[in-house]
Amino acid sequence: MDDIILRVKDICKYYPGVKALDGVNFEVKRGEVHAICGENGAGKSTFIKILTGANEPTSGTIEFNGKEYAKLTPKQSMELGISVIYQEFSLIPYLSVAENIFYGREIKKGIIRDIAAMEKQAKELCKEMGVDIDVHKRVCDLGIAYQQIVEILKAVSKKSEFIIMDEPTAPLTVKETAVFFKIIQKLKQDHVTIIFISHRLEEVFEICDRVSVFCDGKYIVSKDVQDITKKQLITYMVGRELSDDYPEPKRKIGETLLKVEHLKNKRVHDVSFELKKGEILGFGGLVGAGRTELVRAIYGADPIESGTITFNGKKYSPKSPADGLEAGIGLIPEDRKAQGCVLSLTIRENIVYSILKKISKVSVVQKKQEKEIVDQYIKELNVKTPSPEQLVKNLSGGNQQKVVLAKALATNCEILIFDEPTRGIDVGAKQEIYNLMCKLVEAGKSIIMISSEMPELIGMSDRIVVMSNGENAGELSKGEYDQTHLLEMASSKL
Ligand SMILES: Nc1ncnc2c1ncn2[C@@H]1O[C@H](COP(=O)(O)OP(=O)(O)OP(=O)(O)O)[C@@H](O)[C@H]1O
Ligand SMILES: [Mg+2]
Repeated sequence: MDDIILRVKDICKYYPGVKALDGVNFEVKRGEVHAICGENGAGKSTFIKILTGANEPTSGTIEFNGKEYAKLTPKQSMELGISVIYQEFSLIPYLSVAENIFYGREIKKGIIRDIAAMEKQAKELCKEMGVDIDVHKRVCDLGIAYQQIVEILKAVSKKSEFIIMDEPTAPLTVKETAVFFKIIQKLKQDHVTIIFISHRLEEVFEICDRVSVFCDGKYIVSKDVQDITKKQLITYMVGRELSDDYPEPKRKIGETLLKVEHLKNKRVHDVSFELKKGEILGFGGLVGAGRTELVRAIYGADPIESGTITFNGKKYSPKSPADGLEAGIGLIPEDRKAQGCVLSLTIRENIVYSILKKISKVSVVQKKQEKEIVDQYIKELNVKTPSPEQLVKNLSGGNQQKVVLAKALATNCEILIFDEPTRGIDVGAKQEIYNLMCKLVEAGKSIIMISSEMPELIGMSDRIVVMSNGENAGELSKGEYDQTHLLEMASSKL
């Protein structure tokens, strides 16, 4: 049989004002793990949607297993054995893990769904894949990392011949990524072909055989990973060299601004820490360590059971995010789809969402001021869009994340909490976000940053608090950072 499983010819996909794909020619060999890399908005997800039948190409052809198609319908794509793990989750929150895995292909006894049989098979699948997950649990009660693992199990359970993974590891930390890579190795042994999209370039080198680069909707190049360095790959992606260095803010760290003492809520047990003016305080830990719940409590989004917070020398006890914002604490949440932005609104509407009062006079929005703010952030964060009036749902994943950032930055808060700020952000844009964080602390703001990306956590933080199982497992100062030690601390309270 032909060594090439997928060959696309001159694929174009045009939207009003956007050439999402512009004459892509591209091949995937049978049984390989093939990475697609490119900046935010390069066209990666659009390309995937054409293979799954979610999108119709404007022109071009798709050849799969030697047969040529002008387009694929979702049904055809499924019948061809193509399955996909989307960048945005597609699980049903109120169904259990087992029900989600078999959703649309339920095992039945007569006309009734045989839940016990599905649970049994789901359990076996977990065991086979080396995943420790309770298959009875509702998906909405799982953390985002485990939800991602369920997505993966779902694709694996279909016994697909061709699995496409669009940023599957974005919500995973080092530990879960390792579990996931084991799954990929297994699939590889079974000769499954995989397309793998990730902004974490180290992963491309760890797990992939070949890599292709897209840029502005165009196919640039394909290389065997052993024939290319990370530096070269970045240069293909962004058209210039990038340094690996993290920027050093020029500022003096000031007095304590925020003091958290013995804070407790449903996930956080007795956590104390301080944040100083002008400081970038990092929070490390494994997924589920309680970091997100801690910052949500400080922002006012989750109830606090006991403990005190002092902000600017005064007692602060937020009851809602409005209290947090009013006091000068802004949060950039990890789950952009659920909490970060309203997908059905425009970029402009999202950016000014939290500051409407500030830019209105007698309830009328000052259009000129609004435009200035919106234009400033689109430019500063380099949001790829034909206009501020574009709906956020039409932006690429990384560009949606930039809108979430812009929305929080526009509030001009004294403390900004970044929960996984660079998830899904391309290498070039990451640098821009780091530079922006520098500018913020240079202007006297303080930053709390939760990050599961070890290099970023170590590179950007002035101090790191490590959380483990809802507790503060210790603090490290610059100079003491060490990846192994950090991971040990992160597991110390398990
Ligand atoms: N439905 C749509 N309407 C208009 N433009 C769209 C639509 N879908 C995608 N686009 C645009 O097509 C371009 C490519 O988007 P795509 O989602 O494929 O990028 P990507 O490479 O996956 O980026 P990321 O790394 O940020 O996920 C972007 O400029 C995006 O705004
Ligand atoms: Mg994408």
